[in-house]
This record gives sequence, structure tokens and C-alpha cells, in this order.
Amino acid sequence: MTSTVEPAASTVESSHAAYFRFRDELLGPSRNRVLTGAELCEAGRLIYGRPEGLSLYGIPAPDMEAKGLRLLGRTTIECSIDAYSAAVADALADLRSGPLPTQGGMIVDLFCGSGNFGFHLGQRLGLPVLASELDPDVYQATRHNLDRIGSAIDLRLTDYRMLLASLTPRGPHDTYVVEPPWGSAFTAAGLDLEATSPPVPAILDDIRRHRAGLPCLVAIKTNDQIAGDSLTTSFRDAIHLRTITPEPTLPYGANMDFHLYRLPGN
Ligand SMILES: C[S@@+](CC[C@H](N)C(=O)[O-])C[C@H]1O[C@@H](n2cnc3c(N)ncnc32)[C@H](O)[C@@H]1O
Repeated sequence: MTSTVEPAASTVESSHAAYFRFRDELLGPSRNRVLTGAELCEAGRLIYGRPEGLSLYGIPAPDMEAKGLRLLGRTTIECSIDAYSAAVADALADLRSGPLPTQGGMIVDLFCGSGNFGFHLGQRLGLPVLASELDPDVYQATRHNLDRIGSAIDLRLTDYRMLLASLTPRGPHDTYVVEPPWGSAFTAAGLDLEATSPPVPAILDDIRRHRAGLPCLVAIKTNDQIAGDSLTTSFRDAIHLRTITPEPTLPYGANMDFHLYRLPGN
């Protein structure tokens, strides 16, 4: 029988304080700087409890530098890691294998950052991925990483609305990944989805216009504390399909949740 020793409360508190300091640094002064291998391991330890917890494109933080990956400070905080993206991909695969299994379609990663979310959905479902990223520094780092791993994701340096305007819907299970920057929408009261940049309801309206009456799926990342009823309000005419709640590694309000919805057609 194995026994574990619980860390003292003060140790947990100081590691959480260290996480919030690190987060402020990566979203502030180190926002557009490529992190070193040691910093990526530290990020894994502080956010996910161990260096390998930060893992993208199947490559854990301790191997990222040797594999030539480039992650900016902001993307290290904002990304959806392998474990989370793969769990959402599994849920989507399950939904698509229902009574009427669906072939074909596309994954559209509208605010792609590292592109890891789209990477996993595309790989798991065997679908083409189209992705937009507006920040030229993030785009360059992601372009570099996708080339390193030989990914065929169609990555564009553009606003998500331009990507939408360039695409023709392919099928009812086309899936749109919605992960806009949180910025000032993330406060002690939780994440206000009506105050992200752009607001989630506006993004959903853009998707509906582009779909022109055809249904589709939407995957969205939130934190584990929503401000008010902003999630329900944002998706008020949508059908909730699944919520994936990874094991928390941070204090309440700082962990991630993932939700899958169907936007009905006309
Ligand atoms: C929360 S991050 C997404 C993280 C991503 N899902 C990942 O796994 O790395 C949001 C990204 O959207 C980009 N972005 C912000 N506004 C945008 C826009 N209007 N169109 C496209 N990308 C945008 C930001 O530069 C940032 O990299």
C-alpha cells in the first residue's frame, strides 16, 4: 500500500502565489518573448503540477527546446494543452459516432494561438483544419512550430472574420473553436463571456451569419468560474452537448473547462 504526504497548506499557497506572479510576467513583460526550455518546464510545474503537464502537439515541455519549438509568454498561459484538447477531441468523436455517423466536414480554429486545439481535433477526427491568428508574433511562432512538426493546418495571419468570410460550410458537424483572449473579462467574479475581446455573443453571431442557416458545432474554453450567467446567455439558443472539466491544478477560478454546443440551423 502506498501512502502520500499532503503538502502543507502554506506550501500550496506559496506555489499558487508563484503561479499568479509567473502568469502576470508571461502576460505582461514576457508576452511576446520566446521562453527558454527551463521557463517552459517551470510553467508546466506551476500551472499543471509537473513540467510534462505543459505539452503541445504531443511534445512535453522538457523536450520542447530540443525539438526546436517556440512558445511566447502569452501563448504559454493561453494555450489548451494536449491532455485537455485530446479530451475534447474524444468527446467530439463520440458525438459524431452517434446513430447517424457523420463523414467529412472541417475544423475552424478561429483564435488559434498555438494551434494545438485545432491540431488535436483535426488529427482525432481526420478532418482538415483552418486557423486564424491575428497577432503577428504568435502567428510566426505557431507557423514555425507547425512546420517543425509537419502539420498540414491551413494557418492564416488574419482576423477570424476574414477566415470565416473565405470559407464555405461543408457539413452539419463542422466545428468552430472559439477561444478569444479574456483580457479584462477575467476578474475575481469569474470569466464574463460577454466581455471577452471580442465578446462571445458577437463571435457566435459572426459564425451564424457565415453558416447562413446551416447547423454546426462550437467548442469553447472557459475557466471554472463563470461571471453571472454569461455562458448561458451567450449560448441561449444553442444546444449544450458536453462539458469537459479537467482535474483542477490551480485555485477555483483559475482552472479551465471546455464546452461543446450545437448551433441549430433554420
Ligand atoms: C486565448 S488565445 C487562444 C489559445 C489557443 N486556443 C491555444 O491553444 O493556444 C487567443 C488568441 O487569439 C488571437 N486573436 C485575438 N483576436 C483575434 C482575432 N480578431 N482574430 C484572430 N485571432 C485573434 C490572439 O492573438 C491569441 O493568440
